[in-house]
Amino acid sequence: MPVLGLGVYQIRPNQAKQVFQWAIDMGYRLFDTASLYGNEKEVGQAILKSTVTRSEFFITSKLWNTDQGYNNALSAFENSMDQFGLDYIDLYLIHWPVTNLRLESWTALESLVETERVKAVGVSNYMINHLEELLQKCSVIPVINQVEFHPWLYKKALLKYCEENRIQLQAYSPLTKGQKLGDKKLKKIGDKYGKSPSQILIRWCLQHNVPTIPKSANKQHLEQNINVFDFHLTQKDMMKLDLMNQDYSVTWDPRDYP
Ligand SMILES: NC(=O)c1ccc[n+]([C@@H]2O[C@H](COP(=O)([O-])OP(=O)(O)OC[C@H]3O[C@@H](n4cnc5c(N)ncnc54)[C@H](OP(=O)(O)O)[C@@H]3O)[C@@H](O)[C@H]2O)c1
Repeated sequence: MPVLGLGVYQIRPNQAKQVFQWAIDMGYRLFDTASLYGNEKEVGQAILKSTVTRSEFFITSKLWNTDQGYNNALSAFENSMDQFGLDYIDLYLIHWPVTNLRLESWTALESLVETERVKAVGVSNYMINHLEELLQKCSVIPVINQVEFHPWLYKKALLKYCEENRIQLQAYSPLTKGQKLGDKKLKKIGDKYGKSPSQILIRWCLQHNVPTIPKSANKQHLEQNINVFDFHLTQKDMMKLDLMNQDYSVTWDPRDYP
């Protein structure tokens, strides 16, 4: 899986064609979508029309909350595949750990791996308690846990737990949906390297060995966000960023799912 991809939440179908074309031309190969986002069709079309071979792309989608449960999950996956128009996708995730249904949904995802229409399965928004429950019951271990992760929500214990259990953490909303891009301390670190706040935040994820999927529909931003492999944050600057943690979240709280 590429360590950096494009998150496509809120990329509207009418802008998707142009945005995905820019992204592919710039070298983006991972596209992170979900049935909720309403643009699986446009992702599939971009892949099918591209001159880049299918095997170079990495496509992720997710099972939405109202589709959880064994049978519902299987039919939701079929609906997603109809939207994509692709033979397979690379990764399918349980979007949120919906209470009382998540284990049944996981059994459905395990059975999908056998069909080879999805290469791997994982979860999203799982906290340690959700993972403990799953690891006790599952026969296939989730390869990925995709969670909100940035310096203001540095989930250190979860990262450690995932590393110990060979589950790869993946960061969503790495740019805090734009909310903290004007932070003065962040800007100061960026100025030192001649890099933008978004580039610093992406590097922070990567240097914690956490792959990430920043979203942008803007050509300059797309370019900035993928050009993060020519510099390295010092240990001291990584620590400065680590210390910015405030348990500040830009989305729903997974702890709401007991
Ligand atoms: N599993 C889940 O529950 C879950 C939840 C949330 C998100 N996600 C995934 O994670 C992806 C990313 O998270 P996100 O969309 O919440 O937010 P994000 O990537 O943290 O931030 C996106 C925002 O930052 C702006 N931006 C991007 N690059 C920028 C740059 N270089 N300079 C200035 N502003 C920039 C974007 O505006 P422009 O478009 O104008 O550039 C947009 O407003 C989503 O698209 C989705 O695929 C998953």
